[in-house]
Amino acid sequence: MKLIVTGATGFVGSEVVRQALRNPAVSFVIAIARRVVQPPPNEDASKFQSFALDDWTGPYPKYLMDGIKGADACIWSLAVTPTKSRSMDFADVTTICHDYTVNGMQIMAAVANKPFRFVYVSGVLIERDQSKVLPHMGEYRLMRGRTENFLVDFAHKNAPDVQVTVTKPGAIDAPSIRETSDAMVKALFNMFGHTPRVHVSELAAAMIDQCQNGITNDPLWSSKLAEIGKKVLKAEDYV
Ligand SMILES: NC(=O)c1ccc[n+]([C@@H]2O[C@H](COP(=O)([O-])OP(=O)(O)OC[C@H]3O[C@@H](n4cnc5c(N)ncnc54)[C@H](OP(=O)(O)O)[C@@H]3O)[C@@H](O)[C@H]2O)c1
Repeated sequence: MKLIVTGATGFVGSEVVRQALRNPAVSFVIAIARRVVQPPPNEDASKFQSFALDDWTGPYPKYLMDGIKGADACIWSLAVTPTKSRSMDFADVTTICHDYTVNGMQIMAAVANKPFRFVYVSGVLIERDQSKVLPHMGEYRLMRGRTENFLVDFAHKNAPDVQVTVTKPGAIDAPSIRETSDAMVKALFNMFGHTPRVHVSELAAAMIDQCQNGITNDPLWSSKLAEIGKKVLKAEDYV
């Protein structure tokens, strides 16, 4: 499986890259970022290639098209998180979260293998129903919901060649991550108390599994992600 990873420098994306490089079912990892990304130390760099991309809303340059041609799957973990978005112009946040993803899907699907599996990392707070009035961070949550809607609709229109799932974790745990100290994010997560947390290693394992073995559900909530991820991590000894 040739796997594209965006957001590879981030918290989620870097764990995806680390696991993908260890996974024998992944033959090649293409990381697309705004700068060249080094492979994680002590991992198999021979199946890793990084591409820097400046313009994410226009046609991708030829060298990148050559790289992504024949990809089997993409894990899209590029986004501006809710916390970071609060210090940015909302138009820029929309361009990065929505326009980059829409353009990326359309470009990748055109040159990918069939079926092309696209796993989008979103969040529990993101709302697909555009008629809702949301009290907290409504503009952001609806905007990212529009991205989810676009992806699901694109897969529907291009079935069975394009398959999509959206992962909707609440909080994501890692050894180095303590519970968020951001009061507003904390308050929002509390509204979704029924949604368990997922560890970043389980999330990454579950997403790679969906790319490799087929998409089982859309969306994938934390409980399902943790269940799939735990199963994969228990069965495999490469992680
Ligand atoms: N972390 C959590 O607890 C959590 C919980 C629920 C859902 N999520 C979702 O998971 C996804 C990934 O989150 P994360 O925690 O991994 O975030 P992160 O660590 O901030 O990573 C975001 C990634 O997006 C890239 N990115 C941001 N702006 C960019 C731009 N203008 N051009 C190119 N790349 C850009 C970053 O690249 P640079 O390194 O170049 O900035 C980075 O690789 C997001 O959709 C987030 O909402 C996260």
